Amino acid sequence: MGGLGIKTVENALKDIKKKYQIDIVTAQAENVSEGKGISYSDYIKLKNIGIDFFTGGNWTLYNQEIFNILNNPNEPIIRPANYPKDTPGLGYKYLKTELGNILFVTLLGQIVGRDSDKPIDNPLKTIDHIIESEKNNNKIATIVNFHGDYSSEKVVIGHYLDGKVAAVIGDHWHVPTADGRILPKGTAHISDVGMCGALNSSLGIKLPIIINRWRDGNKSRNELETVGPCQFNAVSINIDEKTGLAKDIKQINVVI
Ligand SMILES: [Fe+2]
Repeated sequence: MGGLGIKTVENALKDIKKKYQIDIVTAQAENVSEGKGISYSDYIKLKNIGIDFFTGGNWTLYNQEIFNILNNPNEPIIRPANYPKDTPGLGYKYLKTELGNILFVTLLGQIVGRDSDKPIDNPLKTIDHIIESEKNNNKIATIVNFHGDYSSEKVVIGHYLDGKVAAVIGDHWHVPTADGRILPKGTAHISDVGMCGALNSSLGIKLPIIINRWRDGNKSRNELETVGPCQFNAVSINIDEKTGLAKDIKQINVVI
């Protein structure tokens, strides 16, 4: 989330990668640049910091300068897969790694704040199509990012894909939930992984602005919090590349 989010990742990632013996890092990239989408330069910056793959959300298409890389199957960044067909960008891509190919997919939930009236395809049916169309492509794991608002839908998508994919990682709330676990058939799941950015803020935005909005109904522009302690929210998932399922999920929530 914004400049502090980038700084948090820059400061924390190296040690966390070492501590948890991380091979591949994926990050949500929809709120990176001023909280709105991601610029090309921030994409390069985060790649250099150590992010291997970037998932998408309701802000991904805000920045048109990244449409080229969203369209390029070799660039590790996607937008939600269940946008209408003529939408720029790709909703799923493979990341080639030394261990094998990993399929990444982002799905948008059916209720996502003020975007809820925008047309999207059904996420459950969309992932069915993707799994079916990609079943013969070599891969060691499929990672699904579910970007939604409703806890019910975020829980359901985990169970719906249990045993079919390595992980279903929810986000969009910027607040981590405490339900990270391995589901009965071997899929790692969490309803919401949280965010990286300002700790004493409302989802990364300065508190006075949001307090006035909720208390007095003030219509105001969001301003990112730029100072103070930061939170680094993530999960570490141990995947068995032979089965494509998860062995372990650990929540990593640290303040730096
Ligand atoms: Fe979002």
